[in-house]
Amino acid sequence: MKNQEHKVEKEFIPALGYNFLTGLYDTTIRLTMPEKKFRNQLIQKLDPQADETILEFGFGSGANLAIASSRSPNTSFFGLDIDPKVREIAFSKLKNKDILVELQLYNGGIFPYNDAVFDKAYSCLVFHQLDDETKAHCFSEIYRVLKPGGKLIIGDWGKAKNRWMRTVFYTVQLLDGFKTTTANVKGLLPDYIREAGFSDVQETGFINTRIGSFCYYEGIKMEK
Ligand SMILES: C[S@@+](CC[C@H](N)C(=O)[O-])C[C@H]1O[C@@H](n2cnc3c(N)ncnc32)[C@H](O)[C@@H]1O
Repeated sequence: MKNQEHKVEKEFIPALGYNFLTGLYDTTIRLTMPEKKFRNQLIQKLDPQADETILEFGFGSGANLAIASSRSPNTSFFGLDIDPKVREIAFSKLKNKDILVELQLYNGGIFPYNDAVFDKAYSCLVFHQLDDETKAHCFSEIYRVLKPGGKLIIGDWGKAKNRWMRTVFYTVQLLDGFKTTTANVKGLLPDYIREAGFSDVQETGFINTRIGSFCYYEGIKMEK
């Protein structure tokens, strides 16, 4: 693994839309979403194995890494996020639980990893915060760093499953903006995943929450 850290060179949307709200992220998720359910389903789909090396892109406060790593302590987990503030939060959370994960800071460009080093990569509630160009770039970077045969698992806002889900999703859009969330609610994430080179792309489930339809997607980097 390359182990350099870079200055953040790209603008980004913080975990809760605004930098001053980042400290409230965990509480807000607990109050607005079925947190145990959506995180447990994500980690069940990830199904981490002892000999695997797994990347979480956009680890936020480290909540998924904490669950995944306690479920499979011998898996090598790595985390990449653009925001130094969440890295501090995630670092303390994981340290308090005696969990050792390499948390790297992303500069918004090329991922700081060599080609084909991860068995699996996952990302949760991140792609709705990326503009269309950045979505495409990050999916192709994930594709590059996965081994042939490697698997991508995404949990994020997807196509609203009914009119009420479309209406409540305006809450997320008002906080995070329409520019980055529109492709999600139009159901376009699977197209981005396919365009990055992934095969067998599919929606594998969804949960209707108080603030929108949270969907799971998967794709495979085929062996050549
Ligand atoms: C809503 S939070 C989700 C955090 C975590 N994955 C979770 O499940 O709770 C979105 C995360 O994406 C990160 N993020 C936003 N833009 C990013 C970018 N361009 N590259 C990497 N991470 C980004 C934010 O710093 C934040 O930690």
